[in-house]
Amino acid sequence: MSAPFTIAIDGPAAAGKGTISKAVAAHFGFAHLDTGLLYRAVGAKVLLGVDPARAARELTADDLAGEELRSPEVAQAASKVAVIPEVRAALRDFQRSFAQRAGGAVLDGRDIGTVICPEAEAKLFITASPEVRADRRFAELSASGAATSRAQVLADVKERDARDRNRAEAPLLPARDAVEIDTSDMSIEAAIAAAIAIIEARLP
Ligand code: DC
Repeated sequence: MSAPFTIAIDGPAAAGKGTISKAVAAHFGFAHLDTGLLYRAVGAKVLLGVDPARAARELTADDLAGEELRSPEVAQAASKVAVIPEVRAALRDFQRSFAQRAGGAVLDGRDIGTVICPEAEAKLFITASPEVRADRRFAELSASGAATSRAQVLADVKERDARDRNRAEAPLLPARDAVEIDTSDMSIEAAIAAAIAIIEARLP
């Protein structure tokens, strides 16, 4: 496919959007951008003392690699810098040009269908209950050897949800034309299949 075809996948933390986005991108042969990683990279710099707006303006591809970007501390820092309008503005153009690339693109985040790519050809909003999301994140963190409790992970998930949903600029919310998939009682395979079916129906 040569004309841009953009798939916007939004939703709260640990609802499954990362896994679904990767699988969808592989299925259609599209490029994938995990936009949360941009905010995580800015959050990680801010934890080191860099000014948030400056960190966002000076972000490079090298900043997007590293296991530490997956840590709960960096996730919270990402959610905090994501409230700052100058940070969001500095990251906007990169995300929009990625969406316009020939051959198709999948972007996942919080505001892709509403702010970054309101014209996206397909929009999904992936949700799951906070408890299910905390269970999944706790299992991942425990498997990677992190010392944490399920209660702590649930508190973190709820805190991040509240901040992401209630911020003034580009809050987490489904676009009016997004199709919602609640993955609480679904296997990841079923959720991926549902996402692919919805997108298939929108392909030219
Ligand atoms: O998707 P994630 O958990 O890696 O995102 C980390 C934080 O980054 C999230 O809590 C809020 C922010 N974020 C955002 O504000 N907008 C996006 N498009 C993606 C992430």
